[in-house]
Amino acid sequence: MTTRAIDRPDPAVDKPIPGGGEEPPRLRSRHLLGIAGLDAAEISLILDTTVAMKEIGGRAIKKVPTLRGRTVVNLFFEPSTRTRTSFEIAEKRLSADTLSIAAATSSVTKGETLVDTVRNIEAMSPDMIVMRHASSGTPDLLSRICRSTIINAGDGMHEHPTQALLDAFTIREHKGRLAGLKVAIVGDLLHSRVLRSNVLLLKTMGADVWACGPATLIPAGLERLGARPTTSVDEAVEGADVVMLLRIQNERMQGHFIPSVREYFALFGMTPERVRRAHPEVIVMHPGPMNRGVEIDSAVADAPYSVILEQVANGVAVRMAVLYLLAGREESGGE
Ligand code: CP
Repeated sequence: MTTRAIDRPDPAVDKPIPGGGEEPPRLRSRHLLGIAGLDAAEISLILDTTVAMKEIGGRAIKKVPTLRGRTVVNLFFEPSTRTRTSFEIAEKRLSADTLSIAAATSSVTKGETLVDTVRNIEAMSPDMIVMRHASSGTPDLLSRICRSTIINAGDGMHEHPTQALLDAFTIREHKGRLAGLKVAIVGDLLHSRVLRSNVLLLKTMGADVWACGPATLIPAGLERLGARPTTSVDEAVEGADVVMLLRIQNERMQGHFIPSVREYFALFGMTPERVRRAHPEVIVMHPGPMNRGVEIDSAVADAPYSVILEQVANGVAVRMAVLYLLAGREESGGE
């Protein structure tokens, strides 16, 4: 019989998870490396668990003992505002002992390899490592050599699973479902881990995903992933229930993918006029950080249909759900 990482019952967290029955809620893997490793039932489990976690965030005392005695290390080798902050808040709300290490203040700057850095951190017996890295596949590599549970907080151009989960949660809050929705994702598709995780999640949950950008920024194999690629914003946005903008990632571009920012905004920037082609109850999303006047007009970013700050707020609850479910998985001892 397996046990869960709960010190004592908490009515908000310990109420039955829909579909969970008598068994403790669980994910099949003890790591979260990407959406690619999750099936529809696991995605639903995380989203349903997030509802309970969000309730905790609305209390006067926003803290439960769920991860008391557990140590979580946040290891960020790339800048982050939203992801790192929300993981830290999520860990504190679950009573974990937590510390954050930024690459600039670690011994990586003195020539230590990533593997050596992580092995040294592991020598201090953390339970979970939340990591962001510029190289795709780094969390997967570490999951093969670490005892700790690894949570991918964004790896290169590969995946950003908790971003896609918080996006899905936000969509579900507004639309009540994911299946059957038209979701238009517009921007720098080529360099985006957010695109990849969102397409995988939304397709798994039955949404109709359109991906729009300049031909130079559309990755090969997008159709195989399940999205409908197009260079026409009008086609992508027409009747869309959700419009999601992606940042132009200048820092990942080696060469000239767009002639100029002004031309990009003229052809692909999300303006109020373009939003009017979407469903009358459209919501507009952006994972951040956003470049106003490049991929999104300020009038859109600040419009009533923009849910960008709701996404950020939901990020805390989604990350609490992920930490909670993986802690339970960790204790049950599976791979
Ligand atoms: N959406 C996102 O990953 O933002 P940060 O880079 O600020 O974490």
